[in-house]
Amino acid sequence: MTSHALRETKSESTVIQINNVGLTYQTDKQVVTALQNINLQIKEGSFVCVLGPSGCGKTTLLRILAGFHQATSGEVLLDNKPISPKPDRHRGVVFQQQMLYPWLNIEDNVGFGLKMRKVPPKERQEIVDHYLEMVGLSQFKKAKSYELSGGMKQRASIARVLANDPRIVLMDEPFGALDAMTKEQMQDNIRKIWKETHKTIFFITHDVEEALLLGTHIIVLSSRPGRIVKEIYSDLPYKIEEGKGRMYRSDPDFVKRREEIISIISS
Ligand SMILES: Nc1ncnc2c1ncn2[C@@H]1O[C@H](COP(=O)(O)OP(=O)(O)O)[C@@H](O)[C@H]1O
Ligand SMILES: [Mg+2]
Repeated sequence: MTSHALRETKSESTVIQINNVGLTYQTDKQVVTALQNINLQIKEGSFVCVLGPSGCGKTTLLRILAGFHQATSGEVLLDNKPISPKPDRHRGVVFQQQMLYPWLNIEDNVGFGLKMRKVPPKERQEIVDHYLEMVGLSQFKKAKSYELSGGMKQRASIARVLANDPRIVLMDEPFGALDAMTKEQMQDNIRKIWKETHKTIFFITHDVEEALLLGTHIIVLSSRPGRIVKEIYSDLPYKIEEGKGRMYRSDPDFVKRREEIISIISS
C-alpha cells in the first residue's frame, strides 16, 4: 500500500460552509462555551469525520447543522443559504441510539418521511425497497424494531435517512454502542453506501481508527471549548475494497497516522 496522498478538493462544490461559529450554553447554574471560532467547508460527496475528546462540542456542532440549536455567533450556510433553525429532511440525522417508531414495521419506518411528503405508494415502495436492499435488510421489512439486533436497527435508521434523499447525512457516533464485530461490518457497510450514493456524510466518532477507515476529511477538535486543531484529507476510504477495512488497521502508514492523531488529541 502506498502512502495516502492528500486529495485535491478545489474543483468540488461546497455543501456546508461554517463561518466563525461559536455556541455558548447558558443554564441556571453556569455558562458553558461549547464551541469557539469554528470555520469549516464541507465539500460535496466528502465523508467528514469529526474526532475529539468527550465533551468537546462534537454533538453541539452536529445539532447546529441539524437545526436543533442555533449558533450563538457566526453563520452556517447550506448551498450558500443560511440554514433554517429547525430540523429538515435535507439534513437527516442518525443518532447513536436509533429512534425507530416501535409501532411501525421496518419498511414503514423507512418510508415514513416519504409518506409525510405524500410520495405516491408505488414510488414510495420502490424507494424503500432500494434502501432496505442497500443496507441488507430486505428480509426484515415486515419485522418490528424490537425484533432486530442493534446493528440492524442502525441499518434501518440509515435507510430511513437515505430514503429522504438529504443533502447531507449527519451521524452522531452511530456505531458507538455496537460490539466490535458488528461495528466493523457497519463501517464497511456505510463506506459502501457512501460510494454508491455519493452522499455527503458528517460523522462524529471518538474512535481514531474509525475516522481513518471512513473519513476523506478528518477534523480534530480540541477539548472544550471545541476548536479545530487539525484537518486531514485522505483518499484511503476510496481505496479500501468492499469488506476489506480490517486489513488496513495493521498497515504501517495507517498506524503512523493513528498515532499522530492520538498525540494531537491527547496533547
Ligand atoms: N443543553 C445543554 N446545556 C448546557 N450545557 C450543555 C448542553 N449540551 C451540552 N452541554 C455541554 O457542552 C459541552 C459540549 O457537549 P457535547 O457537544 O455534547 O460534547 P461531545 O459530543 O463532544 O461529547 C459539554 O461540556 C456539555 O456538558
Ligand atoms: Mg456527543
